[in-house]
Amino acid sequence: MSEAPQGRPQVRKVCVIGAGVMGAGIAAQVANAGIPVLLLDIVRDPADRSGVARAAVDTILKADPAPFMGKGAARLVEPGNIEDDLPRIAECDWIVEAIVERLDLKQALYAKVEACRAPHAAVSSNTSTIPLASLIEGRSDAFRRHFLITHFFNPPRYMRLLEVVGGPDSDPAMVTRITDFADRALGKRIVPARDTPGFIANRIGTLWLESAVNAAFDLGLTVEEADAIAGKPMGVPGTGIFGLLDLVGLDLMPHVRQSLTASLPAGDAYQAVARSHPRIEAMLAAGLTGRKGKGGFYRLNREAGRKEAIDLVTGEYRPAVKAPPPEGPAGKGDLAALIAAPGKVGAYAWAVLGPTLSYAASLAPEIAADITAIDDAMKLGYNWRFGPFELIDRLGADKLAARLRAEGSPVPPLLDLAGERAFHRVDKGRRQVLGFDGQYSDLVRPDGVLLLEDLRLAAKPLLENASAALWDVGDGVVALEFTGKMNALDGEVMALIGQAIALVQERYKALVIYNEGANFSAGANLGLALFALAMNAWPEIEKLMAGGQQAYKALKYAPFPVVGAPAGMALGGGCEILLHADAIQAHAESYVGLVECGVGLVPGWGGCGEMLERWRKMPGLPGGPMPAVAKVFEVVSVATVSKSAAEARELGFLRASDGVTMNRDRLLADAKARALALVDGYAPPAPPEFHLPGPTGRAALDLAVHGFRAQGLATEYDAVVAGHLAHVLTGGEADMADPLTEADLLALEREAFLALLHDERTQARIKAMLETGKPLRN
Ligand code: NAI
Repeated sequence: MSEAPQGRPQVRKVCVIGAGVMGAGIAAQVANAGIPVLLLDIVRDPADRSGVARAAVDTILKADPAPFMGKGAARLVEPGNIEDDLPRIAECDWIVEAIVERLDLKQALYAKVEACRAPHAAVSSNTSTIPLASLIEGRSDAFRRHFLITHFFNPPRYMRLLEVVGGPDSDPAMVTRITDFADRALGKRIVPARDTPGFIANRIGTLWLESAVNAAFDLGLTVEEADAIAGKPMGVPGTGIFGLLDLVGLDLMPHVRQSLTASLPAGDAYQAVARSHPRIEAMLAAGLTGRKGKGGFYRLNREAGRKEAIDLVTGEYRPAVKAPPPEGPAGKGDLAALIAAPGKVGAYAWAVLGPTLSYAASLAPEIAADITAIDDAMKLGYNWRFGPFELIDRLGADKLAARLRAEGSPVPPLLDLAGERAFHRVDKGRRQVLGFDGQYSDLVRPDGVLLLEDLRLAAKPLLENASAALWDVGDGVVALEFTGKMNALDGEVMALIGQAIALVQERYKALVIYNEGANFSAGANLGLALFALAMNAWPEIEKLMAGGQQAYKALKYAPFPVVGAPAGMALGGGCEILLHADAIQAHAESYVGLVECGVGLVPGWGGCGEMLERWRKMPGLPGGPMPAVAKVFEVVSVATVSKSAAEARELGFLRASDGVTMNRDRLLADAKARALALVDGYAPPAPPEFHLPGPTGRAALDLAVHGFRAQGLATEYDAVVAGHLAHVLTGGEADMADPLTEADLLALEREAFLALLHDERTQARIKAMLETGKPLRN
């Protein structure tokens, strides 16, 4: 969890009531934060009174993507039932209600909760549609003061948005306590919303989806054509509209439509958009509800081995045809070009964007306190790359207004208020947003949120080259940022590390390795290696190898603290750099692994030795050199990648002492704090001595590989690669009595790496990885 500067969040135990899709997912995320959870549901079987909640935990233990981040988390969820365990609600600081969306049932439940909750405990509902005012009807003043709506998105571990609605009676201190916990411990970005139907994301998102579906029917587009226009060119995930509906389930649409049409006023723009389509009704009747059903707008036809799409006119499936992206700038994010494109492309783009952006602008003051809430809600709730007001800026508010006006549509006053001005601007290095009063004000980040994204507006990097940059992040700390494609590592990165060490030594206190890419690093730039190979430039390759080893060791022994701060994937060389840091502060969603064997190589930048050291010190491992060697071999030979930071710790990539930050926005500040905490009295680590088993240990590992071969789990070349890894990890020809130095181990790594790189089968693996992004099992 994020270490809050003011101490741990004051939520020590949580009760989640309703162990369905959302309740179980919320409980898992609370457990991921290390907080115990009581998960209650109804009694369905008198012989197994807590069976419903227990079955829910079993289900999510098998779910993919996994709701739990690690083995420990699942043990923190205690299943129970609402009849026997109600008094135990008194143990909890926060009670989250996530039962079916029925007002009568929720109200009846609150009456029971009121009777047994602790006086300080907060109660919140995960309702998607029911107004707060209705939920608390009949409740006491004290209950009202402790009540709020916390609207999570599905799946709760992975969706970062949390819409929070406080009522007029909600105690602001209580709301802050819960939102602070949800932010720091659960990793959510809090979007305050007003008590209006569908809150922010679903209100705008539903109109967006339905406008897009309507227009596809009206303009006669295929689902592929629609998704190619309303997907990537608009900064929307490639699933587009129909792909997204398949994902969330087509059956959800009629429910949401019914609920929104019932709760929104007659004049709301959504009422004119809400429309059922006979084709979709027929699909639902046939069980074609999307990915969870027998297929949706798309389906995988396993027998024919192909992806298929439904013909919106005939309802027949046919082979899916990838639609080309819109031509020219229209396909590359130029929204003005997109809506002005000739034919179906422009017509469809406008039919989607026009109503959606206009709706967002017309609703904004009613549903949110500022436009940032709306942008955040759509970016985090629907994975849009740009929020509605960022999209409007790309079009121009005045131009959007002009087009609406020209076609006789109402123009939201907010667009006219903005006029020629942008909703977002940078003024003297500070991000500003346009308020509903027509004035700009600075965007204020929560305490403890530090982003390079903001820093770079006001400053230039201290050092910079083609693949990396160094930033002053304040208080004597610098951040090393990778900037190449996929944050791949090359000679430029290594050169910058060298310069950075000199600079920090001279003028700063500590260094953090951090960036804001989707992934920390994909590892060494293999394209470069392949290129050098094709040119027969062996000296270049050897230079890259040795350069990486030297740079990483220089970081390790630098006379100041170094903290690695990964988020997303940290693979191969990206993992190895972390292994050389004094400490790691990882985002909870860190996917760490030494994946070199997957491309027919072995870790070559010091990863083998560093992992051996980590496992040697792992508590609970039996003595002697072999257990650590065997563990590292087990993890690295099959290119294991952790599915979370918690798992990275189980695999030995993180130490017990390393930190985890749940909220991505807080990672840099947390890493910086960790680095600063190491400054006083800092001394670099002492170089290790390796006592390795030598050829006898190698024989044991070879035997294991032989077993995998025999079972068909490893290819012949897998065994060759594993053999090289085993050679390095066991210390080559070493005699157990003679300890090896770090330099000896690096030499073994280099030797194995270069030998493998010479092999055509390794080259084929690298080529396949670069071309398809998938490992080749040759
Ligand atoms: P669900 O149908 O999967 O689960 C509801 C659970 O509540 C069931 O396990 C049911 O046995 C239990 N339940 C019903 N009455 C109960 C009672 N009186 N006491 C204890 N347990 C009871 O529903 P889902 O999808 O998890 O939705 C739950 C809430 O979250 C609803 O308010 C929904 O609007 C909201 N929501 C749903 C989202 C989604 O994507 N499914 C997203 C955001 C919010």
